[in-house]
Amino acid sequence: MKEKLIINADECYQQAEEKANHYFQSLYAQAQKKTYVKVLTEDIHLWKHKHIRHHSIFSLFSRGKGKTNTSGYHNYIKWLNYTGKLDNYLNRSISYIFMRDLGKALNSPDTEKRIGSIVDSLKTQLTSTTADRKNDGELFSMTALYRLAQKEGVESTFIWLINKLKNVSTNIPTGMNAEHAQRKLIKIIAGVIMQENEEMDVGVTVEDRKQRLDKAIRLGYSYGLTYPFIDDLLDAEILSDEEEKQYAYLIRSTLTTGVVPELGDWVGNNAELIRYIHTELREAFEYIKAHQRPETRNSFFEQSYVFFNSQEVDRDKDLTNAKYTNEELYIPVILKSASSRLIVRSVIGAPEDEGFDSRTFFYGIYNQLADDFADMFDDLKDGAVTPYTYYLKYHDKRPDLINPFEMYWTVISNLIHQVYHSDKMTREVILDRAINGLKRFKERAGTEKYKEVMDLFGSGNPKFNKLIQEMVRKADDVDFFDKLLRDHMITSLKNDRQGQEDFIETAKAIRSQINSVLDIPKTNEMADSIIDAANYSLQGEGKRLRPIVTWFMGVNAYGLNSSILEPLLKSLEYMHTASLIFDDLPSQDNAALRRGRPTLHEVYTISIAELTGLFLTQKAILEQTTLDQFHSKAVLRLIQYSAQVTADMCRGQAMDLDSKGQQLSLEQLNRMCFYKTGLGFEASILMPAILANTSKLEIDALKKFARHAGIAFQIKDDLLDVEGDTALLGKSTGKDTENNSSTFVSILGVNDAKKEMWENYCIAMESLQDVPRDTDFLKHFLDYIINRDK
Ligand code: IPE
Ligand code: IPE
Ligand code: MG
Ligand code: MG
Ligand code: MG
Repeated sequence: MKEKLIINADECYQQAEEKANHYFQSLYAQAQKKTYVKVLTEDIHLWKHKHIRHHSIFSLFSRGKGKTNTSGYHNYIKWLNYTGKLDNYLNRSISYIFMRDLGKALNSPDTEKRIGSIVDSLKTQLTSTTADRKNDGELFSMTALYRLAQKEGVESTFIWLINKLKNVSTNIPTGMNAEHAQRKLIKIIAGVIMQENEEMDVGVTVEDRKQRLDKAIRLGYSYGLTYPFIDDLLDAEILSDEEEKQYAYLIRSTLTTGVVPELGDWVGNNAELIRYIHTELREAFEYIKAHQRPETRNSFFEQSYVFFNSQEVDRDKDLTNAKYTNEELYIPVILKSASSRLIVRSVIGAPEDEGFDSRTFFYGIYNQLADDFADMFDDLKDGAVTPYTYYLKYHDKRPDLINPFEMYWTVISNLIHQVYHSDKMTREVILDRAINGLKRFKERAGTEKYKEVMDLFGSGNPKFNKLIQEMVRKADDVDFFDKLLRDHMITSLKNDRQGQEDFIETAKAIRSQINSVLDIPKTNEMADSIIDAANYSLQGEGKRLRPIVTWFMGVNAYGLNSSILEPLLKSLEYMHTASLIFDDLPSQDNAALRRGRPTLHEVYTISIAELTGLFLTQKAILEQTTLDQFHSKAVLRLIQYSAQVTADMCRGQAMDLDSKGQQLSLEQLNRMCFYKTGLGFEASILMPAILANTSKLEIDALKKFARHAGIAFQIKDDLLDVEGDTALLGKSTGKDTENNSSTFVSILGVNDAKKEMWENYCIAMESLQDVPRDTDFLKHFLDYIINRDK
């Protein structure tokens, strides 16, 4: 059966092309006459007064200082503030975003006021001392973002999003860049939130605001997903030609019928990837569709189709084809860059706005040409056709080709004077951005390469080019906050990912080292069921988290030698394994499966299991008494602490068993979990600190970390009991419900349990600020805790 078409694809694309052609012809005529030269020369002379200063000693000194600091994100902001440049910096940055992402005209008094107030609050946030202390300037750390979401009451949406982003990044195929995919998604989501935010009146109720933000985040994600999974995927040449055809058919048919086709049989090697993408995109598409107002629905499908098709047209071009006309080169560029932004507005179902539509339409190509300029060598390598790569390749043989750099300045001059009516602020911001783009390119490509590029592209008008190059060399104060954020985000996403991978790798190695020493040797020939039983319990697929953390603390934070720590590592795993043996007993949780095998009392007897538990706690102390490389007083303190922990864990376990079927308060729940689980983690963190004779202050901060990390761990354990997979976990799910246990999930429900887990995650992260050691591994450990699936 054929699906009903809801848009006439060819007709709407043709209409869009006509409009784009009209714009192109007007730009072409201006480029031919080189009208930009005179106009922009005047503009630049006016502009440069604010950007080229006579060099006093101070400005020379301060200029150098600012430049070297762009990587130290927080220091850079501090420096701007110190030199009094922060206001202008934020002002041009926010103004630019208002123009680009929100389609605003900067000369409207309302817009000016809005920008002013955003600049003020951003400045306060960036320079506040709490930001300094709490997050070490990491304005966009997970903790800071979660705190922000909390303030707006959209924690659940945030948690949902984090989970989605994690899935996207794990499903990104090799050959594509996971960080870039994440960054793009985040950027789109931020853009949609901004749009929605600007649509909200001051009088909006808290509840309404919450709902609209929730919707904006979900819509942003849903729309943003098309970037990695349609555009980038098709660009990356991961799919075979045959697969690409099937895939393009799916998209095309979705956009023209409004219904996502079933995937059916997939012919090709990437079936698994496509299945994930298909499910995810379908969910996204349906979410967007369900949130469209009937009056905007059609325009949404039309814009989306134009966006998709213009990209296809561009993608299908072949750099070896010497015959493309200027129209063929520029019209798809106009179309894709305009429609991508126009969609955002229709995605959120914002009311029609003539001014927005036309400004956005004219603006798009400016941005696209700036991007294509920056990427020209990458594109050339990939064989992609853009106005720049094409000109690089054919400028000798094709005198009719427009020089894209001249086209770029033509667009700029047209924007400033025709579209934005010679507005001063617009001129300021666009020229800042243009000069900044060239500076960044020069920095990346190197002076040599840059000169080569400019000799070619600047040849259209040497005098004008000379002026531009003078600006690139001398002009200052043209940098932008969004660029700083972009660089910062990429570095920190990369570092986080690398750090997490390194942590997991090291943990794996420590785990096998621990596994190799855990076995308890038999002392004589007699049958020794207790030792056999103990070894049976120890040999299962335990994660060994507690001794792993101890290893990191001892070696990384306190510089202890890993070999002398061995007894401590064993002792912690013995204590922990004993607690599991007791916990699984029929009189307690009555569990039949542990660490991927039958529980001890199932294989042996209940009495042997009880004795083995006791046996292992004593073995733990025995191990501690062999720590003879440390000061005996420290070892005694350690043993005292350890005995106390074991005693308190028993009390926690008793609280747990006593609370079956009871409606505990959040406070009681936290206390119980701290006692039964948190203390075990506390011990693994504190024991090395005790051996290293650490200060009381540091011990307190570590205790705070451990308490909240431990509770987060138990909440995740409670969540996995309902959401997890027995095969992965190695223990049966659903035990808590079966036992009528009081857990975070039974008391709060899944959603609020997740919020509570994040709350504990944040407090734990924040408490690390007070530990003056290398504790990066603790951060990764925390990330692992809340993201684990076993
Ligand atoms: C399970 O601990 C008991 C809880 C505190 C929830 P783990 O999840 O660390 O168990 P193993 O050691 O990996 O088996
Ligand atoms: C156990 O909590 C806490 C211990 C320290 C034994 P659970 O009862 O939730 O642990 P699992 O789920 O059985 O591993
Ligand atoms: Mg239990
Ligand atoms: Mg249990
Ligand atoms: Mg459990």
